[in-house]
Amino acid sequence: MLIQTENLTRHYTIGTYVVQALRGVSLAIENGEYIAITGPSGSGKSTLMHLLGCLDLPTSGKYLLSNTDVTSLSDLELSRLRNQSIGFVFQTFNLLPRVTVMKNVELPLLYAGIDSRIRNEKIEAILERVGLAHRKTHCPNELSGGEMQRVAVARALINNPQVVFADEPTGNLDSKTGKEIMTLFNEIAQEGNTIILVTHDPNIAGYARRQIKMLDGQILEDTK
Ligand SMILES: Nc1ncnc2c1ncn2[C@@H]1O[C@H](COP(=O)(O)OP(=O)(O)OP(=O)(O)O)[C@@H](O)[C@H]1O
Ligand SMILES: [Mg+2]
Repeated sequence: MLIQTENLTRHYTIGTYVVQALRGVSLAIENGEYIAITGPSGSGKSTLMHLLGCLDLPTSGKYLLSNTDVTSLSDLELSRLRNQSIGFVFQTFNLLPRVTVMKNVELPLLYAGIDSRIRNEKIEAILERVGLAHRKTHCPNELSGGEMQRVAVARALINNPQVVFADEPTGNLDSKTGKEIMTLFNEIAQEGNTIILVTHDPNIAGYARRQIKMLDGQILEDTK
């Protein structure tokens, strides 16, 4: 099992006020699944994704990622786990604006300590894979939104992660470009990658094989 959670909660305390963003989420996800987490604004989708992506820790509950108890790890171990096992794609792309496509995609390899010959091979291959070989020396501000998101997908995949998370990956794209990005996700899912995407858009969710619907910090429905 890739992901196993038991009764995950996440409370945010603001002064004396407590927001119960997640109120007991139990989930099992296997390698190779293609999942959409849906639900209205404020239902806890991003909070859940941040916990599953080891960007945040739960208030209570259990989270096992590949049988590792995530809550027992140090900050250093967590960042290593994120670098080596997890890829992220965000709505706003989150690319470094002043460096080339190649350098943006290279970052996770640098953190992982991969040597330069192998880095270059991997960069060439992944840019080819997402259809951006001809843009490798461009900077993000010279790219379209769809191209920027392809760079983000390439960066998410470059370390060959166990799971890729995407939070509203088409949220800043027009519908035609959004479809192109979803076609790319379909392809990488078909190649055996595990993908968990968060979206409020039922059309986007329809691309995934399994839908998990959230409401008020809990799972309302799971098509598994
Ligand atoms: N850092 C934070 N501090 C306080 N409250 C937060 C924080 N992050 C999220 N929340 C609250 O937790 C709840 C769940 O938020 P979350 O961002 O997970 O929702 P979401 O389903 O991703 O919504 P959206 O579709 O608008 O992105 C909301 O009530 C939100 O206001
Ligand atoms: Mg969100």
